[in-house]
Amino acid sequence: MSIHNKQYYLFANWKMYLDYDESNNLASALANKAKDFSEEIKMAIFPGALAFHAATQILHNVNIKTGAQNAHWVDRGGYTGEISMEMYKRAGAAYILVGHSERRHLFYEDNHDVRQKVEAALNAGLTPVICVGETERERAGGQAEEVVEIQLRAALEDIKWPAGRELIVAYEPVWAIGTGNNCEPIDAEKMQARIADWIKALVSDTIPVLLYGGSVRPDVVTKYLILPHINGVLVGGASAKFDSWLEIVQNSATTVTQ
Ligand code: PGA
Repeated sequence: MSIHNKQYYLFANWKMYLDYDESNNLASALANKAKDFSEEIKMAIFPGALAFHAATQILHNVNIKTGAQNAHWVDRGGYTGEISMEMYKRAGAAYILVGHSERRHLFYEDNHDVRQKVEAALNAGLTPVICVGETERERAGGQAEEVVEIQLRAALEDIKWPAGRELIVAYEPVWAIGTGNNCEPIDAEKMQARIADWIKALVSDTIPVLLYGGSVRPDVVTKYLILPHINGVLVGGASAKFDSWLEIVQNSATTVTQ
């Protein structure tokens, strides 16, 4: 028996790890392998902007969706260097990462920016993957839940969620991203249960999809996927290499309960 009795999400954030050719090569390798992937998997890859369109075309006929790593909230105009949600939608995107900690911490995006992006994504017909998570200092100071609640509230309070649109939140503790420091599954589960409650209070009539992210590797992926409040994982480093991503896919599909 598989660990899953429903669909689960394997999302691959390629960040700025791959150039144009490398992205297309990895997309092609995944397209060739896709027929072997379990039907329970909802897979999406998030290539860099340069390769987004080509990678999306390569994956067009297989069951792997694509998403943007970042986009601007205005549709069109004088915004040098930006790409809009609308443009990504037209180029075939299904998802957009919003509030990723690298955007928050390296590019100073705040909760207000995140909110604008969530709204723009919904208007453009994209599903935002809303990323939240506390820093090491905030966790050490006992503020982890408070920080995550504030981030979620800013993103979702009084929002009109389109009927039928998935509401995806990725809990990614900042100290676990790209560091090899895994969040203990028990801590991840505790936070995800809180996140589920907060979402329920903020947005009625939605069943949230909750992802965990932060140093997910082939050997630990199932520890998260078996948790009651986790529907999938958002993977960075280990998703940008064919072998480790394939291992994640295979491990997650074949692990047996008890
Ligand atoms: P990581 O990144 O798997 O490399 O820690 C996760 C993320 O940033 O989404």
